[in-house]
Amino acid sequence: MNNTNFHIPVMKHEAISHLLSDRDGIYIDATLGYGGHSKHILEETSSKSKLYAIDKDIDAIEFNKKELSEEKRFTLKHGCFSSLDEYARTWNIYGSVNGILFDLGVSSVHLDSAERGFSFNKNAALDMRFDRTEGKKVSEYINELPEKEIEYILRAYGQEKFSRRIAKNIVKHRINNPIIETFELVNIINKSVIVNDKNKHNATRSFQALRIFVNKELEVLKEVLEKSYNILAPKGRLVLITYHSLEEKVIKDFIVFTDHNLNTPRKLPIKKDFLTRMFTVIKKVKPSCDEVTLNPRSRSAKINVLEKQ
Ligand SMILES: C[S@@+](CC[C@H](N)C(=O)[O-])C[C@H]1O[C@@H](n2cnc3c(N)ncnc32)[C@H](O)[C@@H]1O
Repeated sequence: MNNTNFHIPVMKHEAISHLLSDRDGIYIDATLGYGGHSKHILEETSSKSKLYAIDKDIDAIEFNKKELSEEKRFTLKHGCFSSLDEYARTWNIYGSVNGILFDLGVSSVHLDSAERGFSFNKNAALDMRFDRTEGKKVSEYINELPEKEIEYILRAYGQEKFSRRIAKNIVKHRINNPIIETFELVNIINKSVIVNDKNKHNATRSFQALRIFVNKELEVLKEVLEKSYNILAPKGRLVLITYHSLEEKVIKDFIVFTDHNLNTPRKLPIKKDFLTRMFTVIKKVKPSCDEVTLNPRSRSAKINVLEKQ
């Protein structure tokens, strides 16, 4: 895939400098993509270090198999990061990981590859699955789901004000013509949105919502965060690059949840004041103006750094 040359890893230096606490350590890149962050981790760590990387997308895995085939410190896995505990046990690193990186969501390679159906600017089959080896495509869902459910998805995951009208028009259209391609959906959205946002394409919110829904992005993030405490070594870090407020909310809720679940068994007769939190929030970082100019995709990015106590 030649368009991988245009992929620029978001906040690469900031993310990796917060991830690496030990040059000889064990690290996981839970969203490998086209390997931008992974390559930087390998450059910044010693010959004793290990890097394990996961991606749901088989194309990304195949690309990195070739790209990093010479690298002895590197292990690849095709799968979902919600099974990270299982993978860590298989790799024999459960409880000894120094840092896990998450660069969430869609990659620029996905958006640029018309055939994946992630972009409302390119006509293609309406798919949007990160893992094309399993699950249903967006087209299958929107041709089957009840109107109310489509409305809910667009509102909950896309904060789409016109969710009701769009859902209604999807259902009306599909009676005679199943919706198969991205541009068919874009036309229905364009007809349904009454007030145009001059800074955003009419389809931005609906496409985001359907992508989050079809890949269960918020559910798997919650699941892996809950598993991460036991995967990490003491002082191990989670570095999470997020791109929208729904991901931020999952992380915020997780921090509140762990604050109430302190790291010593409850039955021990120790006063709450003497117990420590499971994670502390070390930092929140935003991209510099220079980075946003160079790579507009970084515009909405934020890094959350959490450290296991
Ligand atoms: C923003 S891109 C990562 C880009 C990467 N950091 C780089 O520099 O090339 C996100 C990647 O995570 C993958 N992904 C998204 N959700 C995933 C999940 N639940 N489990 C594993 N991989 C996932 C996507 O397929 C995509 O390749």
